[in-house]
Amino acid sequence: MCGIVGAVAQRDVADILVEGLKRLEYRGYDSAGVAVINKKNELLSTKRLGKVQELDQALTEAPLAGGTGIAHTRWATHGAPSEVNAHPHISSNTIAVVHNGIIENHQALRSQLQGLGYEFLSQTDTEVITHLVHHELKTSDSLLSAVQKTVKQLEGAYGTVVMDSRDQDNLIVARSGSPLVIGYGLGENFIASDIMALLPVTRKFSYLEEGDVAQISRFDVNIFDIDGKPVIREAKEVSVSHDSGDKGEYRHYMLKETYEQPTAIRNSLEGRLVAGKLDINTFGDGADEIFKNVEHVQIIACGTSYHSGMVARYWLEELAGVSCNIEIASEFRYRKSFVPKNSLLVTISQSGETADTLAALRLAKEIGYQSSLVICNVPGSSLVRESDLAFMTKAGAEIGVASTKAFTTQLVGLLMMTMAIGKHHGMSADKQAEITQSLMSLPAKLDEVLALASSIEDLAEDFADKNHALFLGRGDQYPIAMEGALKLKEISYIHAEAYAAGELKHGPLALIDAEMPVIVVAPKNDLIEKLKSNVEEVRARGGLMYVFADSDANFSSDDTCKVINVPVCDGIIAPIVYTLPLQLLSYYVAIIKGTDVDQPRNLAKSVTVE
Ligand code: G6P
Repeated sequence: MCGIVGAVAQRDVADILVEGLKRLEYRGYDSAGVAVINKKNELLSTKRLGKVQELDQALTEAPLAGGTGIAHTRWATHGAPSEVNAHPHISSNTIAVVHNGIIENHQALRSQLQGLGYEFLSQTDTEVITHLVHHELKTSDSLLSAVQKTVKQLEGAYGTVVMDSRDQDNLIVARSGSPLVIGYGLGENFIASDIMALLPVTRKFSYLEEGDVAQISRFDVNIFDIDGKPVIREAKEVSVSHDSGDKGEYRHYMLKETYEQPTAIRNSLEGRLVAGKLDINTFGDGADEIFKNVEHVQIIACGTSYHSGMVARYWLEELAGVSCNIEIASEFRYRKSFVPKNSLLVTISQSGETADTLAALRLAKEIGYQSSLVICNVPGSSLVRESDLAFMTKAGAEIGVASTKAFTTQLVGLLMMTMAIGKHHGMSADKQAEITQSLMSLPAKLDEVLALASSIEDLAEDFADKNHALFLGRGDQYPIAMEGALKLKEISYIHAEAYAAGELKHGPLALIDAEMPVIVVAPKNDLIEKLKSNVEEVRARGGLMYVFADSDANFSSDDTCKVINVPVCDGIIAPIVYTLPLQLLSYYVAIIKGTDVDQPRNLAKSVTVE
């Protein structure tokens, strides 16, 4: 979390830095700040509590001139969101630092530095880096070497950029646990947490590896590995569209991204189902060989990505006949687990940078998983680089904190993975053809679902004065109920829970009254009669229900039950189809409640701290 941008240029860089921060705001938006070195070697800094817009406004009123600078948008960990805790942090008017991550030994370092006479102004862990660099510089011949000595003393995670007002020519950057990418310009160079920040100024990037420290000047970039040895990190041109960050005609990114789902899925399918057959190479070199040996799949993910993994478990066991476990990354990484023979470790992550998921992948390699696959939306991200195989979802940049198109394209990838593994476990050619057909029908089906938007908008009125909601589903719709509940709580701040409908009687039924709307996802499938019995249990206790169902499921509206007709679709893709109405419902409830849809309070999109 937290977004970092830095630049060394001849021109003034404050505008470039602020534009970069706007593009990184998905990483945190508690406060923002910028510092530049001016021609007189003075350090000038402006910070504001709140969003980057506040900082932008302040800089419009009082611009900062300088060709070397750093900037930061914060997601608070240590110390409340406030101007004093905002980055950059500055030591002795000379050293300025921005940091993403958590310095776990900050208390000990703070005491040590206080003993040396350093005065701390903030409650952040970051401020220790600032003073430590200043202190190390007293006995070092360069800022680079001071930073190299500093990072050796840090425990925890960092992506950090350091500058010294006495040296306009260089930025020193260091990475351990938090991503950093170098952007190469003409006579100017840049650093950022993510390429998105730098797309207006360059398309040429190289990624720092764990433990790297680099010196960035206008014409040179020198990178050193964890042992201080010079290394080359190959620079590559990217072809991402510069404008993928625009909202276009939509009021919010989340709505835009919800409507982009048919296209995102079309893009994710394109070239992968050739003449009705899945191209296994889409997972990477040697994929078929790896899939051939898979006897068990362990899925690891966080948040919305965890829900897509839950759906995949149903698919893998039912369609491919392969056993599958799924676990939240932050749990998996801290327990001793059994590794079944010939297991494939599958991580799912929109960003490819989620700290817990990355740590889980690294642990899995240590404890004996034979191979790994990531389902990811960001090329070049840490999970992609560190996994044996990768399925790249082609959702395009997802900006809204609440994930929409990344989730449904993950499901598409996971269904293709099910086919690829199933092929080696007796999945028939007919079944493969049926799944292919189902996937191909998906974009058009989703267009039909999006046409329900105005009736779902009307429905949202019923929820705006409620404090709680219960989502119910069975089978592969249970994870969809979970995802629906997560969306509602994330962006409307209504407390929402999801239950496998068969579990109702074991507790949640006690909560049912007219103040607890119950949302049911109910396509016609093998479990529909069971689900109907659960619906009756709610009705008998005076609950109010909102049932998303197709006409074949045969529900009818009455005083206590509103039925929202979802187009009939093939059962295999029903989890994807039923996701969209729930996304729209939470969106419209949030609109009525007036919450910040794209940047809900206390959250961030890319969680690079554990
Ligand atoms: C954050 C985001 C969620 C996302 C989760 C996992 O909590 O707000 O939308 O699902 O991280 O992120 P990942 O990038 O690993 O999918």
